[in-house]
Amino acid sequence: MLSFAEKAVGTSSACKTPLSEGVVDLTSFDGFHYPSESPTVTWPGDRFKTKLPFVPNPDYPTQNILEAEATHVENLAKMATLTSGWVKRLQYSHYSNDRELASAIADEIKWGRTVVVSGYPYKPATVDTDDLNLRFNFSPENESHVSGQYLIFPLLIFIFITILDAVKRLGNHTNPHIFMTLKEFCDGTWDNSKIQCMLDLPTLDGEVLPFVKFLDDRHTAYNRLHTHSIWRKHRSLDVQKAMSWVLIHQGLYHTYAHHNSDGYSIWMQVLSGYKFWVILRPKSYDSDTNRNQLYDSANLYMEQTPKKDGFYSQESERTLIYTGPGDIIVMAPGTFHKVFTPVPSVTIGGHLYSYNALHLTELSRSLDKKTNEKFTNTSHPSSTLTVALMLAALPLLKDKGTFFSMLYDFINLFYSSPP
Ligand SMILES: [Fe+2]
Repeated sequence: MLSFAEKAVGTSSACKTPLSEGVVDLTSFDGFHYPSESPTVTWPGDRFKTKLPFVPNPDYPTQNILEAEATHVENLAKMATLTSGWVKRLQYSHYSNDRELASAIADEIKWGRTVVVSGYPYKPATVDTDDLNLRFNFSPENESHVSGQYLIFPLLIFIFITILDAVKRLGNHTNPHIFMTLKEFCDGTWDNSKIQCMLDLPTLDGEVLPFVKFLDDRHTAYNRLHTHSIWRKHRSLDVQKAMSWVLIHQGLYHTYAHHNSDGYSIWMQVLSGYKFWVILRPKSYDSDTNRNQLYDSANLYMEQTPKKDGFYSQESERTLIYTGPGDIIVMAPGTFHKVFTPVPSVTIGGHLYSYNALHLTELSRSLDKKTNEKFTNTSHPSSTLTVALMLAALPLLKDKGTFFSMLYDFINLFYSSPP
């Protein structure tokens, strides 16, 4: 009998084919085929073949309800590039410990770069009720929010450019979330009439990779203040939940462009399947010299999102990152991105703040405030308190490096009694 880990790897067709062995055919998995009516596309570098998002119209089964979205993804597959100065690739074996790896990541995200880490240990988990129950204690009968692909598109149109007609046209689905059990969701993986995902499943046991504690300065601040702030009795549930979560996707799910909320950096590790991340950057950022210009660039760019030709115009860089089981991706605050999940996939991840990237956190939060959060997809009510916690810990960070040592000395000028 196979062990849990062996079984998990063995049941994923994607896992059987390493990234280096030519074209990986993801038009089917484990004998299940995506709709024959959906075109097959080959992605940049001839690395992967996938189907496009396709949900048949119940009255005309050869008609795709997601036609516009399929065109969107097809153009992405044609036009995204595989290299960029905004993406840095690291190999875990090049670092002697997690602290060194975290330091290297912090040095990259402070410039706004996205980091991809290969070779980090991982524990597989597949879109299977038994696996998910064994690994995360998620009951098959637990109900949860599910985002329906065919419902989220009008919501994003509503958020980004406030076209109420688009919402009306598709009915009253102003909220893309529906409830179902985990078992119903997993069974849907084998059903071509739906494309869905479960987001933010909480893992309060702390499913956090070991290197993250050296990168997430919420930990640093909390630890340093532990004996100094004896009046602080509670820790926000929002902070706890944002530390660690699980994403589960059915195949062909596509997430539109957004940046993560409240200026958080984010880390994720793929546990099964593949995910195609696309890092987006308005080209006009290069010539922008102040906050208002950055806002105008981002705003103009995001307003083009629903246009078939607008979003894929030459106004932005679109860098494609392929990730498979074990691969980690860390994004800097405010990084616009989109994701295509070609086959069923389980991902763990979490939010974090880094002192190194706080300037980007502040910029991202100010853009969210100015746009009433139309660039993002959620909000974290405790983020201001968390930043305040990090600020309060600054005088205690003398050992974190030269900058903090100078800051320590500067703040001590005010804290210390005159000689
Ligand atoms: Fe995201």
